[in-house]
Amino acid sequence: MRVHMRSPLLPNNQAMTESADRLGASSAEGHTLQTRAYALAMTTVSTVSTHAPVVVAPLRVRSDRLSALPPFLFDEIDRKKRERIAAGADVINLGVGDPDQPTPGFIVEAMNRAMRDLVNQQYPAVGGGLTVFREACARFMWERFGVRVDPMRHVVCTIGSKDGIAHLPWAVTNPGDTILVPDPAYPVYEIGAVLAHCAVSKTPLAPERGWTPDLGQVPEDVRRAARILWMNYPSNPTAASADVGLYERAIEFIRPTWTDAPRSRGCILASDLAYSELYFEHTPVSMWQAPNADIETTPAIEFHSLSKTYNMTGWRIGFAIGQPDIIKALAGIKANVDSGVFNAIQAAGAVALDNFRAPDIERMRTLYRERRDAIVPVLRSVGCQVESPKAGFFVWARTPGGIDSMSFASTLLEKADTVVVPGSGFSPRGREWFRVALTVDAQRLLEVGRRISTLRW
Ligand SMILES: Cc1ncc(COP(=O)(O)O)c(C=O)c1O
Repeated sequence: MRVHMRSPLLPNNQAMTESADRLGASSAEGHTLQTRAYALAMTTVSTVSTHAPVVVAPLRVRSDRLSALPPFLFDEIDRKKRERIAAGADVINLGVGDPDQPTPGFIVEAMNRAMRDLVNQQYPAVGGGLTVFREACARFMWERFGVRVDPMRHVVCTIGSKDGIAHLPWAVTNPGDTILVPDPAYPVYEIGAVLAHCAVSKTPLAPERGWTPDLGQVPEDVRRAARILWMNYPSNPTAASADVGLYERAIEFIRPTWTDAPRSRGCILASDLAYSELYFEHTPVSMWQAPNADIETTPAIEFHSLSKTYNMTGWRIGFAIGQPDIIKALAGIKANVDSGVFNAIQAAGAVALDNFRAPDIERMRTLYRERRDAIVPVLRSVGCQVESPKAGFFVWARTPGGIDSMSFASTLLEKADTVVVPGSGFSPRGREWFRVALTVDAQRLLEVGRRISTLRW
């Protein structure tokens, strides 16, 4: 028998992507899922039709840093979902964090025009992005938040906000530094820390505090060791919003780490504002609106994304606004690991940002509001504790009677063909919670209500 050692690269990459898709995760969350799928694919034994059986031995290629990433906890839900779909069930997927609506036509048209231009077919401008894009970011910051920024010194273009979020630790930490990550949170804050060989210290979030951190509880030695403090409002997954006071307090929290020991590196405040334009009753604020924030001197950076605002998740474009040294450091990493976002996408992104008040964007908010108003009463009617989110893309609800979210999600899938994301997948703190994405139209959400009305927990 001939034994072939098959190259792991092609088939495994394919399996990785499929696994993330199957869960219905957004690509930004997909990294953890892909990592797990990779492990599965590495243990496959298969046959090739014209040859003897091929034994695919698990090659030891994974680095320690990749292996150190947090595990993927959704296998069971994922498997059941596939089974139900294979059995012909009409599965309603409330797990997917990807808009179901198209990119507005005026942005697609701008892209069509821009990609015909030779300059846009060449390498992108390294060092922060196209001037036209950065100027549009600066206009957006002024018109939307009343924050004045210098397009060339305070702005860096990113490949979606995930790129900037994942790479920030490379730019501003050394191995062994500590990064403060909210718990529960979007997984990439922790993933970026682990890949940069940093220690992760979790700042617990709880419903009693509106899912905001109690920074007074962070031990002094942890504060002194911390190099990044992450915040994310409107939040994924907790759907919580923040006011400017929270950022003001966070800036006071990091201040002594810089002023008490001026020659040592202190803690940077990093805010993820990816959902800034998805709002209903509460219009999200920028960290840079805090009265004690100064773009020249406050060690802080804020990440923005065009993904959800303009239904552009696949285009991969975002930007960060920050203190010049931090922007320069992040741009320095990016100049070395990628060559930036396709110029035509940046040109179209500039058009998108200049039209953040366009009727298309307002319609999108109305659509998400209708969906929120459809699903919240449905969840309450079956005994879930849920606050109607004032902004963002998700509803975060407590399971009926606080039952385990993994078994709740499994039952929902088995008995109602409905997928939700169990909160325990984000953190043990999410054990009694689950996440619903507002990516399914209101009629389908009412159908969820019909399906679950007969279930008893
Ligand atoms: C909180 C949060 N931040 C950032 C991102 C990354 O989005 P993108 O890279 O598409 O800008 C996501 C995506 O789901 C998210 O939920």
